[in-house]
Amino acid sequence: MKNIGILLSGRGSNFEAIARNVSAGKIQAKIALVVSNRGQAPGLETACKMGLRTLFIASKGKEREVYDQEVVAALKGAQVDLVCLAGFMRILSPVFVRAFPGRILNIHPALLPAFPGLDAQKQALDYGVKFSGCTVHIVDEGMDTGPIVRQAVVPVLDEDTVETLSARILAEEHRIYSEAVCLMIEDKIRIEGRRVVLKK
Ligand code: GAR
Repeated sequence: MKNIGILLSGRGSNFEAIARNVSAGKIQAKIALVVSNRGQAPGLETACKMGLRTLFIASKGKEREVYDQEVVAALKGAQVDLVCLAGFMRILSPVFVRAFPGRILNIHPALLPAFPGLDAQKQALDYGVKFSGCTVHIVDEGMDTGPIVRQAVVPVLDEDTVETLSARILAEEHRIYSEAVCLMIEDKIRIEGRRVVLKK
């Protein structure tokens, strides 16, 4: 059985969606550790209530590499095979990425490569695109640049606010993140250049 490590900073709804699919047996893996850089993250509390192993590792005042090494040590200690960033609002240093090469997933609330970085839903609204969505990608050393595993598209409506668009995108995030986790856990994909393709 493979081990998943979750990193989150806030609400944790993507984590919850993955956890529900693990409980339902749709994702055949164990959530071995949930780490947050914020002690008050509601997602950490949820993980606690679910009886999962949780860890608050404070990032304030620490150099990025020092912090990342601490998190990597915790994940390695829990024998994590796949790291899922679920609203983890920190950029990973090369130290972290190289510790889990090709084994870190991130969810981003836009159709990458459009609107990387913060406030992606607001960026999409401000730009005036008619469709946006979400992307699950493998994390490389860039920001939101790694090979794309799954995407989903949602329409942008005239009456949308950041809140309504975010909610429409979030529903799709919850669906495609678990799909991508399954593909990784079941070793069903390989990377050709930038393209993630199904193994034959
Ligand atoms: C999600 O919308 C996720 O896509 C986004 O943060 C939210 C976390 O929600 N991530 C990023 O913007 C990463 N750049 P959650 O805590 O309820 O899963």
